[in-house]
Amino acid sequence: MSEAILKVDKVSMHFGGLKAVDNVSFDINQGEILSLIGPNGAGKTTVFNVITGVYTPTLGNVTFKGVNLNLLKPYKVTSLGIARTFQNIRLFAQLTVLENILLAMHCRRKTNLLESVFKLPRYRYETKECIQKAEELLDYMGLLGEKLEQAQNLPYGKQRKLEIARAMATDAELLLLDEPAAGMNPQETQELMGLIRQIRKDLNKTIFLIEHDMKLVMGISDRIIVFDHGQLIAEGLPEEIRANKRVIEAYLGKEVEDNAETE
Ligand SMILES: Nc1ncnc2c1ncn2[C@@H]1O[C@H](COP(=O)(O)OP(=O)(O)OP(=O)(O)O)[C@@H](O)[C@H]1O
Ligand SMILES: [Mg+2]
Repeated sequence: MSEAILKVDKVSMHFGGLKAVDNVSFDINQGEILSLIGPNGAGKTTVFNVITGVYTPTLGNVTFKGVNLNLLKPYKVTSLGIARTFQNIRLFAQLTVLENILLAMHCRRKTNLLESVFKLPRYRYETKECIQKAEELLDYMGLLGEKLEQAQNLPYGKQRKLEIARAMATDAELLLLDEPAAGMNPQETQELMGLIRQIRKDLNKTIFLIEHDMKLVMGISDRIIVFDHGQLIAEGLPEEIRANKRVIEAYLGKEVEDNAETE
């Protein structure tokens, strides 16, 4: 459980004069659920963008299982085993649920172009195998009943789940989830958190989660890191973060005080 799968080492991401991420270092351990919290604009999504190759860090290094990711394009990072969801849902809205999954699985297919064009046996076999695998995944995520629906017609909570399913379809070892419960009602949120825990347990994934709902973060995380103004201001177990003075000042203030009053 304690081996680092991803290392973020003294990473900065500057946009002009703005230090969106400022000299940040942390590790993600194999098999853990690590959460990243912090106020709006703290640099959370930017860290995801740096890890997944959307941006090359201004300074520092990101390594995944010993491979430096700095200069790799997003598709290459995906093929190494890192997949993500987006803060604002980015599905292929007019494709079906199943098609969204099949497209994500494409990067794992071994057939070459010629075999695909002429629909040679290996292509047909793989297609069948891909569909079966996609359906198993949809079943696991509770979306099989909607497999032929257009993604845009799913209720919002299920679109969020489909995004996670799509990330899982790449066979990624490390899943980066950017506010997966945003816009969900409390019951959907609880369910989703149960599902994320289950995914880690059943499928041996490592999960890096950005989430605003503190109750949820405290309940689900093995460890939490906290950003403020692009800097990492705290790192620790949920109970340590809850009691951390800097975190309370930067972020938790009102919530913690409120809870203290009612306890
Ligand atoms: N491509 C970009 N160009 C310029 N500034 C950017 C860019 N991307 C992010 N920023 C800025 O970097 C800072 C951090 O943004 P980021 O999206 O990482 O914050 P966040 O912690 O995810 O916030 P939120 O909780 O609102 O999602 C913000 O000030 C944002 O405006
Ligand atoms: Mg964000």
